[in-house]
Amino acid sequence: RRLLRSSALLATLALSGCDGRQSVLAPGGADARVLGDLFWVMLGGAIILWLLVNGLFFYVTRINRAALSRRFANGLIIVGGVIFPTVILGALLAYGLSIMPDQRAPGDGLTLRVTGEQWWWRVEYWPEGAEAPIISANEIRLPAGQRSEIILDAGRVIHSFWIPALGGKMDMFPGRETRMSLHPEAPGHWRGQCAEFCGASHALMAFEVVAMAPDDFALWLAAQEAPAAPPADPAGIRGAEVFTREGCGACHTVRGPEGRDSQPRGAVGPDLTHVGSRLSLGAGTLGTTLEDFETWIAHTGAIKPEVEMPAYDHLSAGDLSDLAQYLKGLE
Ligand code: CUA
Repeated sequence: RRLLRSSALLATLALSGCDGRQSVLAPGGADARVLGDLFWVMLGGAIILWLLVNGLFFYVTRINRAALSRRFANGLIIVGGVIFPTVILGALLAYGLSIMPDQRAPGDGLTLRVTGEQWWWRVEYWPEGAEAPIISANEIRLPAGQRSEIILDAGRVIHSFWIPALGGKMDMFPGRETRMSLHPEAPGHWRGQCAEFCGASHALMAFEVVAMAPDDFALWLAAQEAPAAPPADPAGIRGAEVFTREGCGACHTVRGPEGRDSQPRGAVGPDLTHVGSRLSLGAGTLGTTLEDFETWIAHTGAIKPEVEMPAYDHLSAGDLSDLAQYLKGLE
């Protein structure tokens, strides 16, 4: 019964990884498909070796030892214990090395710079020939059918950038650039996750990944580059006042129309210019409904332990609601 129980537990664990949004086994690009294939080949090799070792073990416990000639026994050790595993492991190693992805494969024009912060992602888009980046956060959007280059670094501690459905992981270091490139084959929606322990909220350092048709991507990028539209509704206008009064601009940027000199330019936290159009808050922790905005602003530390943003739990319900309205309106 114990065996049954542990097998069921193992199967549950294994199946819990089957959500295609974050799985190497549901690849959305060639780089991940290679890794998926590698997994199945390695699994096959491991099964063959396991069967062989256990078969031999079973065999020698059952036979009459007196009937086993010394020569046969020695042959068994050499063939079964040395030659066969060496050949299989050698073949698996050669296969693994032969499909090693070229992390420096050149991109088709778009370059992203992603910086790992505690615990969120600073994202810059550099289209070909751009002189300044288009800044966003906590979400990676890529044109489908193209290879995009991604330059990685980190703020204070080591993180690791990983989109299992699109490719392998790559570490991010403070003060040192690493790079990789990704090639989503068709539009899709996945989840990425920090894969290197980086502090209390490491597990809550995720991001949404969206591959879009190239035309849609170009439109989206142009919208991200545009300044934020000033709030039009009364609640949003009041919310913008709360934003200023509470000093949110000390840490966050909201790019307004050119020429306004009192724009918040804080760069400690995520750029909020188009936060209302994003798919998640708190780096993959909450959605972006009005309620999510209110929950996040008032309970940051409870949702994300040790996060730097203080909880604005002193705001009145009205102020909180207005602020949420303002931020949600930043699309
Ligand atoms: Cu960032 Cu773990």
